Amino acid sequence: MNSDKIIIAIDGYSSSGKSTMAKQLAREIGYRYIDSGAMYRAVTLYAMRHGLIGPDGSVDEPGVVNALEDISIDFHVEGERQYTMLNGENVETQIRTLEVSNHVSPIAAIAPVRHALVKMQRAMGKTRGIVMDGRDIGTVVFPDAEMKVFCDASAERRAERRYKELSDKGEQVKYEDVLANVINRDHIDENRAESPLRCADDAVRLDNSRMTIEEQNRWLLDLYNRITRQ
Ligand code: CDP
Repeated sequence: MNSDKIIIAIDGYSSSGKSTMAKQLAREIGYRYIDSGAMYRAVTLYAMRHGLIGPDGSVDEPGVVNALEDISIDFHVEGERQYTMLNGENVETQIRTLEVSNHVSPIAAIAPVRHALVKMQRAMGKTRGIVMDGRDIGTVVFPDAEMKVFCDASAERRAERRYKELSDKGEQVKYEDVLANVINRDHIDENRAESPLRCADDAVRLDNSRMTIEEQNRWLLDLYNRITRQ
């Protein structure tokens, strides 16, 4: 068996279960897990707090780009839990709201925002031994990653999962609004000019519409074992 640590890229559509399985695999094999979406969400939260997103959802793009130098994002690990830190503040709960989800894709479409975050993500992968999930990890951030997965599931299934997740956390949301958000984000993510969401040519595709969490975790671990034992 090859004992060198690899880079694992897990991309896919919104709420497709990427984070759940990426996190579990990282835990199982002793790798670091990085949620790149949390970084775009943190920039979005900063923009919302600083009046850079109007009531109609319009984004002050130059303002956001200027703000980049004032934004520092990090992850704080505490046992099995990981918190996203924005300028030293734990914003893990705030970045997961539907309100942030509703503004994040236009922010993530701004090229200088992507350049800044991709730079940080590559620095985090320097030591390898990393599982990173997102939209462009296998295509742009780590095109040479040894293992790439691209996740999908029907929009309805994904919205059901996200609706349950938000309701379980006590957020008052309507299923229809979550479904609209999932569809809208997919559309913006797939059609932006800068590194649009697409499946890398060498990624293994997974449609997990009919899989349980345990089944998808097992599927991912099997793939990892096959790749590293070659
Ligand atoms: O809600 P979900 O977990 O599916 O999304 P996320 O991974 O938290 O990402 C939130 C948003 O950030 C996405 O809808 C994308 O617009 C953007 N994103 C991106 O553009 N590139 C990444 N590598 C990760 C996220």
